[in-house]
Amino acid sequence: MKIDGTPYRSIWVDEADGWSVRIIDQTKLPWAVDLVRLTTMDEMAHAIRAMLVRGAPLIGASAAYGVALAMRADASDSNLAQALALLGATRPTAINLRWALARMKRALQPLSPAARTTAAYAQAAAICDEDVATNEAIGRHGLPLLAARAQNGRRVNVLTHCNAGWIATVDWGTALAPIYMAHDAGLNVHVWVEETRPRNQGASLTAWELGKHGVPHTVIADNAGGHMMQRGDVDLVIVGTDRVTRSGDVANKIGTYLKALAARDNGVPFWVALPSSTIDWTISDGLADIPIEERSAAEVTTMTGRALDGSIATVRIVPTASPAANPAFDVTPARLVTGLITERGLCDANETALTEMFKELA
Ligand code: MRU
Repeated sequence: MKIDGTPYRSIWVDEADGWSVRIIDQTKLPWAVDLVRLTTMDEMAHAIRAMLVRGAPLIGASAAYGVALAMRADASDSNLAQALALLGATRPTAINLRWALARMKRALQPLSPAARTTAAYAQAAAICDEDVATNEAIGRHGLPLLAARAQNGRRVNVLTHCNAGWIATVDWGTALAPIYMAHDAGLNVHVWVEETRPRNQGASLTAWELGKHGVPHTVIADNAGGHMMQRGDVDLVIVGTDRVTRSGDVANKIGTYLKALAARDNGVPFWVALPSSTIDWTISDGLADIPIEERSAAEVTTMTGRALDGSIATVRIVPTASPAANPAFDVTPARLVTGLITERGLCDANETALTEMFKELA
């Protein structure tokens, strides 16, 4: 997608040296587009942990390049094992991390150390290219859902939560891919962007990337979503996901479940967009089996933004003595999901439909 007219991916190998890895530091958005250069596996692990890069598919792609950086420094068996373990422990919920590292392991372990660095960069590049193609396909399959409601110039209102746009992936995004395609096709699409406390991925990231691409959108408080649905102002909800079980339960950013409940109560379709790399075929019960990341209480007790004097400031919004809890994801049971938008097409959120669509993976 474009930033001020220039096409970008969210991660790429530096053209100047051919080996270091460039990312957009997402902790600086929307205030600055800071293209950070990462040169070691430890720097990449930090970037994932501290959420300079985030979003399930991008976390996977970043981890793959983390392995490549590790191999460049030392391609021994022990360093490969250490890199896989260290990167694998950076964030617990997004399954794409485990998926990408398993793929790197399969590609590199059989090779001699001398062959590993080149192979690691090639494999990481392939993961990125496939992610772009996959998300483009998700966009194509999701587009008719919007087109059906946007006939004769009618405005179609989509509500989304968190950021499942191009910067959560390598390009296109998952939930936002159909929206970008609808916009580019000239449909009258408008997005209600939920702010997504505590880290505000909606307000600071989704709003930023939609704005940079020229997609009409309005930021709303998380608590406003149900009200907008009651008023008939939401045609459909599309969210991304960090892990889907084989039975179709969906883990996504905290607050998603409440929107699924409100959508059900108001007869609003609730769609979840995902690449098949986000399906965890080893589990069925999302509530019992998906690990939910607990993040720092500081994300709840503080807010960062631009002060009136133009400086970036972090302020405390909770009494100093009050503790805070910060579960970062929740699980929406499959029964509340209208359907899944995958790279192979629309799919019911249940085991029969998923295993039929992805026979060779299930
Ligand atoms: O904690 P984050 O920002 O990495 O959370 C991931 C997300 O942005 C969402 O949960 C998203 O909907 C899934 S990733 C396409």
